[in-house]
Amino acid sequence: MLDALNLRSVLAEHYDLAPSVEAAEATRDLYARMDRVVPPADWAVYAPYVQAINALKKQRNAVILAHNYMTPEIYHGIADVVGDSLQLAIAATRVEAQVIVQCGVHFMAETSKVLNPEKTVLIPDPAAGCSLAESITPEGIAEMRAKYPGAPVVSYVNTTAAVKAASDICCTSANALQIVDAMEGDTVIMTPDRYLAQNVAKLSKKKVVWWDGSCIVHELYTAEDLRAYREHDPEVKIIAHPECTPDVVAEADYTGSTSGIVDWVHRHKPKKAMLVTECSMAANIADELPEVEFAKPCNMCPYMKKITLEKILFALHTMSGEVEVDPAIAGKARVAVERMIDLSRSLAR
Ligand code: 13P
Ligand code: SF4
Repeated sequence: MLDALNLRSVLAEHYDLAPSVEAAEATRDLYARMDRVVPPADWAVYAPYVQAINALKKQRNAVILAHNYMTPEIYHGIADVVGDSLQLAIAATRVEAQVIVQCGVHFMAETSKVLNPEKTVLIPDPAAGCSLAESITPEGIAEMRAKYPGAPVVSYVNTTAAVKAASDICCTSANALQIVDAMEGDTVIMTPDRYLAQNVAKLSKKKVVWWDGSCIVHELYTAEDLRAYREHDPEVKIIAHPECTPDVVAEADYTGSTSGIVDWVHRHKPKKAMLVTECSMAANIADELPEVEFAKPCNMCPYMKKITLEKILFALHTMSGEVEVDPAIAGKARVAVERMIDLSRSLAR
């Protein structure tokens, strides 16, 4: 576990990180991307970290890959690439810098390492897990294979490298249906998200069977709540992530990956939108879409929120939080991830 006191004293020795109006003024171009959602006083706190991280990134020849669930000061202030899991995995295959700082959860950093075994991949807080990734092990995959002999295993990227290595192919929320439909045979095993699998099963021509995992953030939404919300405000467009239950998805006007959601809101510009996913999503696009009113409630991912500017600066300063994957496992996991990327590309043509 990261020792917060040690982290702060190390940083205090090397950087002036006191809130600064001057630093805020010097970075006002970055602030302009989030000034509807980040108060000026907060930006004066973040700006010294943003300046220090952006300078250190150059010295370390590092690139920052950030998931759509990062907070606005990370997403707009320091990220080089932002996106959903598929976009980040593809971006990881194209990185030229020697160091990748993964601002997201551990399985995302592992995926970057698996695709870049010769590079240094840092995660600012190694304890940033995921309830889905924690729900299944390679033994679980073996159990499913024994239950459904010959059926291909499609594992969500929200899994450890060891689980990917035991699977035939990966998928993300952006390509799950296409990947499942492209598998041979009548039955396809999907792990570990039962809701993503049930949502795919409703649309797929295959018989889909699943592992019993779930996302602790998306499973909190209920169809009753959404119906009540729509009744209260009939104009609202409800946009959901496919990790939500099928009942919730049935209430939605659109369902897609986190980047699918961002694109949908950009294309349709509804007067009011409720993003049935993690809270930072709406915050990150609020400035680009001033005409859209984003309705609460939303749910916070406690794992994603472990990643902070302070921890990112510390990781880059000390080059700590390095992600290692056993080369034998990494080789097999790479096959499953690359299969997904190649198939996704060929199906998009
Ligand atoms: P996306 O691939 O849609 O970004 O989803 C990742 C995730 O963890 C959502 O909870
Ligand atoms: Fe995992 Fe859910 Fe958090 Fe995404 S939102 S990282 S699936 S726990």
